Amino acid sequence: MEHQEAQPVLLDVRDLQVEFRTRDGVAKAVNGVSYSVGEGETLAVLGESGSGKSVTAQAIMGILDSPPGHVTGGRVFFRGEDLLTMPAETRRRVRGAKLAMVFQDALSSLNPVLSVGAQLSEMFEVHEGMTRKDSRAKAVQLMDRVRIPAARERIGDYPHQFSGGMRQRIMIAMAIALEPDLIIADEPTTALDVTVQAQVMDLLAELQREYNMGLILITHDLGVVADVADKIAVMYAGRIVETAPVHDLYAAPAHPYTRGLLDSIPRLDRKGQQLYAIKGLPPNLMAIPPGCPFNPRCPRAQDICRTDRPPLFAVAPDRTSACHFWKDTLVDFSPS
Ligand SMILES: Nc1ncnc2c1ncn2[C@@H]1O[C@H](COP(=O)(O)OP(=O)(O)OP(=O)(O)O)[C@@H](O)[C@H]1O
Ligand code: SF4
Ligand SMILES: [Mg+2]
Repeated sequence: MEHQEAQPVLLDVRDLQVEFRTRDGVAKAVNGVSYSVGEGETLAVLGESGSGKSVTAQAIMGILDSPPGHVTGGRVFFRGEDLLTMPAETRRRVRGAKLAMVFQDALSSLNPVLSVGAQLSEMFEVHEGMTRKDSRAKAVQLMDRVRIPAARERIGDYPHQFSGGMRQRIMIAMAIALEPDLIIADEPTTALDVTVQAQVMDLLAELQREYNMGLILITHDLGVVADVADKIAVMYAGRIVETAPVHDLYAAPAHPYTRGLLDSIPRLDRKGQQLYAIKGLPPNLMAIPPGCPFNPRCPRAQDICRTDRPPLFAVAPDRTSACHFWKDTLVDFSPS
């Protein structure tokens, strides 16, 4: 299991910090996030609403709502080059061709007054200088590839004429059009029915393998993660609290927050066990408590947790946990 990461590192985020300066105060949304993704690798980013998953992605992509958002520290290396310090024009080019994003809500991300065919063809015309005819043919190919039935007939249809699942496929088609190295998918299936969710997720995973893309999959659904991700980063209050290969994390979490998340999903292998809900609410990002930010909600908290902020401890060569008591947490997780 050790060092399965023979894949070259594609994206390496180090100690990223983002704050929002608002009239009410400064919200520290991202507080030193580090994670990496290799070629062909899938990293799932998990955490409750407001934990900073999307803001981290927006800072990576350079689409942060700024102001009020500001990147106040850190590095974002893409193939060894720091996206945050490269000239704006270079960064735009990298973003256009190498990085792509899939959002939760296709209807508000696609242009409502342009046919999907026009939106897809435009990518090839603008970025690859194709003729209208060739780009049109490419658009049909792409719609076929994401399995939109009768692609040729539907190419003139507008986004609202498609079902939610089909729209999400169109957005995936736009994301893969220029064969990017990395896709960031932010809750790509959350708005869909459960069965459609699975189909769209399968499609995304299939394309990722086919093109050997890196994938960052942002979700609060631990259920979908197990099948598609290689590794997981769990976020809490703008921090990474645990990173691990997906199967190790499921087998035994090394952070009480992860443990709480795992205990709060139904699992086939734990039949009959009562579902658990993590008590309390995430902290106000304008007043994150001292010590471990999770301490007010943690069933394991001791005095040290209220005073000393836990760094990310190395639990194994490929695992980290930001908990003073990671060893006990790991040991205590004995599946019944
Ligand atoms: N445009 C904004 N203006 C001010 N604060 C913002 C803005 N966008 C995000 N934030 C702050 O950043 C925090 C983290 O937001 P983010 O969208 O990253 O959460 P998330 O983990 O993606 O949650 P969700 O699961 O709900 O999508 C928010 O709780 C909010 O305090
Ligand atoms: S450091 Fe303390 S409060 Fe934080 S997760 Fe670990 S035991 Fe809980
Ligand atoms: Mg989000």
